Amino acid sequence: MDQVELHPGLRGIYLDNTRSSFIDGTAGTLLYQGYNIHDLARESTFEEVTYLLWFGRLPTMAELRQFDVDLRTNRAIPPGVMAVIDLIKNGHPMDVLRTAVSALAAFDPDAGDNSFEASIRKGARLTAQFPAIVATHARLRQGKAPVAPDPLLNHAANFLYMLHGQKPDATSTRAVDLDLILHAEHGSNASSFAARVAASTLADLHAAVTAGLATLKGPLHGGAAEGVMALVHAIGSPENAEPYVKRLLAEGKHVMGFGHRVYKTEDPRARHLRDLARKMGEDRGLPAWYTILTRVEEAMAPLRQKGIHVNVDFYSGAVYYLLGIPEDLFVPIFAISRIAGWICQVLEQYANNNLIRPLLHYAGPVDLPYVPLKDR
Ligand code: ACO
Repeated sequence: MDQVELHPGLRGIYLDNTRSSFIDGTAGTLLYQGYNIHDLARESTFEEVTYLLWFGRLPTMAELRQFDVDLRTNRAIPPGVMAVIDLIKNGHPMDVLRTAVSALAAFDPDAGDNSFEASIRKGARLTAQFPAIVATHARLRQGKAPVAPDPLLNHAANFLYMLHGQKPDATSTRAVDLDLILHAEHGSNASSFAARVAASTLADLHAAVTAGLATLKGPLHGGAAEGVMALVHAIGSPENAEPYVKRLLAEGKHVMGFGHRVYKTEDPRARHLRDLARKMGEDRGLPAWYTILTRVEEAMAPLRQKGIHVNVDFYSGAVYYLLGIPEDLFVPIFAISRIAGWICQVLEQYANNNLIRPLLHYAGPVDLPYVPLKDR
């Protein structure tokens, strides 16, 4: 059999050109459509970043206002999908979100239309509905009535309102908005790649987004933030952090919230969430678990020489925790943000499509004699 050069995990393989984002994993740089993540984190909003990703440029005031209206007026979940959410409310929130999105395809008037205009309309609906689905499910499973969306609130504030039933303060709204900006797009990460693979078959946007959701769930990708808080709880006290981490490393285990396929220096997004977690923690009386996080980071310092640094999810879980958000909602919140990037990449894929179909090198036996069932 032919010898071939394998690329396990497709590591280091360029799939296509993109304008979605640029990542320099050595310098720790991230640009969305050419704009530095640090500027967007400081100056922008999730609504504006989503517009930027889908249309490839920053909106004018009027364009942003209209886009914002489109998001605010598309939050309602069809009764049929509400019934599905209620039926499966005891499932993991990520399974519920994925199933609800799949079901939404059946109610979408543009379902079979893959044109740019229809994809933007569907994208706005899905982006608006994601937080509504997550918050509605979170309440239903607690036996609480869902909260209707409030069109006077922006995307981030409305999510917290639908989740907790109270209008959030400005700090909490800004924390969610910042988190959504930072997670919105990140090149050919596993979930965006999965969305692209689905789109490359000319499957529709709901199918591509469902593939993205399915892929984001894993602990090596979106599930890491949930894993970080589980780690903090398992460590229990600051003095236990170093021995606990050392034990994990000695057992060859990965510490959640560290390492990245592309970044070999600190993930540029982590800085904003570290600062935010520290500030929010101080405002609320810096809990012991925050000290545990800093001790874990110190205990992981020796791995920096191997290129293992903190990634975006190490502190995002801390921020959600401070906002009183249950840990199993951390991945769905990642999805609430990353849908912006999935749609950006699906639009790119449709615009210049080429079926994504790599090869597998056959490494099994050949010409085995077939033995009839009765003789085995
Ligand atoms: N803890 C301890 N050691 C690690 C970690 C970690 N978190 N990450 C990587 N390493 C080690 C590996 O064991 C490997 O060691 P070796 O050379 O002695 O075998 C070396 O560093 C290189 O790592 P790879 O496994 O080759 O890195 P890869 O690119 O395959 O994996 C990944 C990247 C999956 C993110 C990995 O770092 C990991 O499992 N991290 C923890 C999960 C996590 O935080 N995921 C979130 C990623 S960011 C995001 O999705 C938003």
